[in-house]
Amino acid sequence: MGRCGSGGIVSTVRGGAGKGGRGERELKVRVKTGKNRSLSSKLWLERQLNDPYVARAKREGYRSRAAYKLIEIDDKHHVLKAGARVLDLGAAPGGWSQVARQRVGGKGRVVAIDILEMDDVAGVDFTQLDFLDPAAPDKLKAMLGGPADVVLSDMAANATGHRQTDHLKIMALVDAGAEFAREVLRPGGAFLAKVIQGGTENELLAMLKRDFTSVKHVKPAASRADSAELYVVATGFRQPMR
Ligand SMILES: C[S@@+](CC[C@H](N)C(=O)[O-])C[C@H]1O[C@@H](n2cnc3c(N)ncnc32)[C@H](O)[C@@H]1O
Repeated sequence: MGRCGSGGIVSTVRGGAGKGGRGERELKVRVKTGKNRSLSSKLWLERQLNDPYVARAKREGYRSRAAYKLIEIDDKHHVLKAGARVLDLGAAPGGWSQVARQRVGGKGRVVAIDILEMDDVAGVDFTQLDFLDPAAPDKLKAMLGGPADVVLSDMAANATGHRQTDHLKIMALVDAGAEFAREVLRPGGAFLAKVIQGGTENELLAMLKRDFTSVKHVKPAASRADSAELYVVATGFRQPMR
């Protein structure tokens, strides 16, 4: 599955203006290629080590730089309200779960799943589960114990490097997430999901526009500019005609 966490191995240092919300000086770290490291691993590692959001996540105790995407989106769209019941799909390593937990507070509830293992996040009910497994919907409904206020999906399958294939894989996950959201959201609820530029397929977009009062696409600053990802924020769920 996708590389969503932060990592570390160091080589050289150089100055420069940073971003990532604090204006800190940016370290320019180079990683040497070795017989056990491919060029793509070297480039990924270099990008992680030079990424101000990775450094900020480490400093502020978030499991992933992805946490800042949710923080930014929620600061603007206010989907995570105190006391809310939230489902986090594709939660590992846990940045979004941490943010959701902080924002819904002690009276809220956060249920999270991932196909990978995830270390416990205090106050988050996590289960390792493939969301596309036919048994997943019933398991999730039991875990939620009632209608959800928010369904989050940051699910991403491993990139193959083939643009069309990657697009189809991520859209299959979003479609399934949206379908499930329609089953579990209470009226007024919200669905926030990662999609791929190119964009939300017509059918999915039509469905979201029919079932939610507002549907927007957003590209948070923490989402890398060279990444085709963006997020769809659908709020004001209407009770669907079943
Ligand atoms: C970008 S990462 C999520 C990062 C997370 N939001 C955070 O803040 O730490 C995408 C996650 O989707 C998960 N994923 C991909 N396919 C999945 C599936 N079928 N079921 C559950 N999780 C899946 C991956 O294992 C990966 O951990």
